[in-house]
Amino acid sequence: MNDKKKPKSKLKAFRDHSFSPNQLVDLTGLSRSSVWRKVQAVRQGAVSSKSEVSWNDLAEFYKASGQKKRDSENKILVFANLKGGVGKSSLSSQVAMRASALGYKTLLIDLDPQAHASLAVGFSNLDEDVPTIMDCLIGKGVDKKDIQEVIQEVTPFLSIIPASLSLNFLEIKLQPDHRRAERLRSILSPIRDEWDLIILDTNPSASTVNISAYLAADQLLLVCATDYLSVTGLRQLFEILKDLQHDFKDFAPDIKVVPNLFDVREAMAQTSLGTLRQSYGEYLSHTVVRKNVDLKEAQSLSQAVWLYNRKSPASEDIVSLTDELLADGEA
Ligand SMILES: Nc1ncnc2c1ncn2[C@@H]1O[C@H](COP(=O)(O)OP(=O)(O)O)[C@@H](O)[C@H]1O
Ligand SMILES: [Mg+2]
Repeated sequence: MNDKKKPKSKLKAFRDHSFSPNQLVDLTGLSRSSVWRKVQAVRQGAVSSKSEVSWNDLAEFYKASGQKKRDSENKILVFANLKGGVGKSSLSSQVAMRASALGYKTLLIDLDPQAHASLAVGFSNLDEDVPTIMDCLIGKGVDKKDIQEVIQEVTPFLSIIPASLSLNFLEIKLQPDHRRAERLRSILSPIRDEWDLIILDTNPSASTVNISAYLAADQLLLVCATDYLSVTGLRQLFEILKDLQHDFKDFAPDIKVVPNLFDVREAMAQTSLGTLRQSYGEYLSHTVVRKNVDLKEAQSLSQAVWLYNRKSPASEDIVSLTDELLADGEA
């Protein structure tokens, strides 16, 4: 079906991507000639219309054209579910890549030792020495790092605090002191104005580190696969959120349930989506993310799905979800 795709070997990862004129038209909504005029102005010289635009060129382009983010407040988005395999890492990393390419300065923080979100934007989790958020949350004296020291740049618009297998120890070390649940929020507070978006990918458990992420959230995105167990599991998560509202008076994030892995041909998916609409209608996102193999394939190349295959349903859904999340809370 997708036989017009480029051979994979020629595709670069997201961080090394250079944009074709058509891709810039897609991103900016401007006409091809207008985009190209602006790119030439930024580069201060003639370039052939066939040449491609690097991330640095794009950064200059956004700076010069003022076509950057809308006037929204910066915000912290947390992708959550106690269950694994529902698409937290896939959606958080894809939304981060999309928002960043639209010119939103985005910081992705990976809180899962499996590091799927890190991998999705091109960071390996095999290097146990890679500094993670753990180095800011725990550690004493010289071992303790400032959050600025653990941020790594992917592109001029996207940075990451990657995860590594060593995050596994975080749980044990954080557990004895429940008040530490609020530490993550206080660590993020001095840096939040430097970012348009901070996106956290959590791990599949009711762990202290996840609770600390929920407490830091402006918007909590409960990613839910459209199957029976996932929908049932969502109730548990809402119970935990209720307890948190009781324990922490300030805890009042905007909550959104994001249905994922929807396959219209599966009766169970239809039923599950119906149940979600009935039980959580007020929280449900407009975007329902369909099950689509392009998402997996793009991930395996550390690429954004809309750059991997622009016409894929997965691209449509990621673009739509990102637009929806960016628009939330805007006047
Ligand atoms: N919409 C989708 N279409 C196809 N595959 C998907 C979709 N969402 C997630 N996946 C795949 O499902 C698996 C689990 O997704 P992942 O994002 O790792 O879940 P989680 O972070 O919740 O554990 C991965 O292999 C991912 O590629
Ligand atoms: Mg994950």
